[in-house]
Amino acid sequence: MPDIKGKKVLITAGPTHEPIDPVRFIGNHSSGKMGIAIAEEALAIGAEVTLICGPSNVKSSSKIKRINVQSAQNMFDAVMQLQETQDVLILSAAVADYRPKIVAENKIKKSDTKLTIELESTPDILASLGQQKRQNQLLVGFALETNNELENAKGKLVKKNCDLLVLNSLQDAGAGFGHDTNKVSILDRHNNIATFELKSKAEVAKDILRTIIAFK
Ligand code: C5P
Repeated sequence: MPDIKGKKVLITAGPTHEPIDPVRFIGNHSSGKMGIAIAEEALAIGAEVTLICGPSNVKSSSKIKRINVQSAQNMFDAVMQLQETQDVLILSAAVADYRPKIVAENKIKKSDTKLTIELESTPDILASLGQQKRQNQLLVGFALETNNELENAKGKLVKKNCDLLVLNSLQDAGAGFGHDTNKVSILDRHNNIATFELKSKAEVAKDILRTIIAFK
């Protein structure tokens, strides 16, 4: 991609909340900081940016078109509506893999018996985009791995038909959920791997966008 100026870039960020009943949900510790930093950097270098963001307190520039969503299904629907028109799709959201199969209509009451909640898979947004990817559309996935990191990340890149995959490891101190810093490796579909130092998420966002622009 020779330049990102004027290109349409869609970014997913944050966690998703999967409702159990009207007051409870299954969620995760994602803050949205990494994805929002990417959105801000893409805007700074001239892209037309849409941010599809799960529940997050992190603010974003008014020049970014932000669509706030709650669940994986909401995020899937919002992405699918826009995907055809996008040049670059960066999926940094920590989407829940499972959701309660049945959402209780009323608050579940406490009782003396044990409670079992059946879970079902959520739609995989990245994999769906990989299946529908059109020519000249660049797809970037994220992976957060705790073991066999490189191997799992490579597998994910291939399986989900990504062009680039950003790997962050929870084993690195200061990296990942909630922190203002992150340490990533970026893999591409030609088997290149670039490893970066621990940096602020704003600097990591620059590395990610530079890698996207340099990707052939
Ligand atoms: O398979 P795994 O969840 O580890 O894949 C992570 C990548 O897939 C991230 O880019 C994440 O945003 C994306 N993903 C998604 N929809 C899901 C699950 C993950 O887009 N339901």
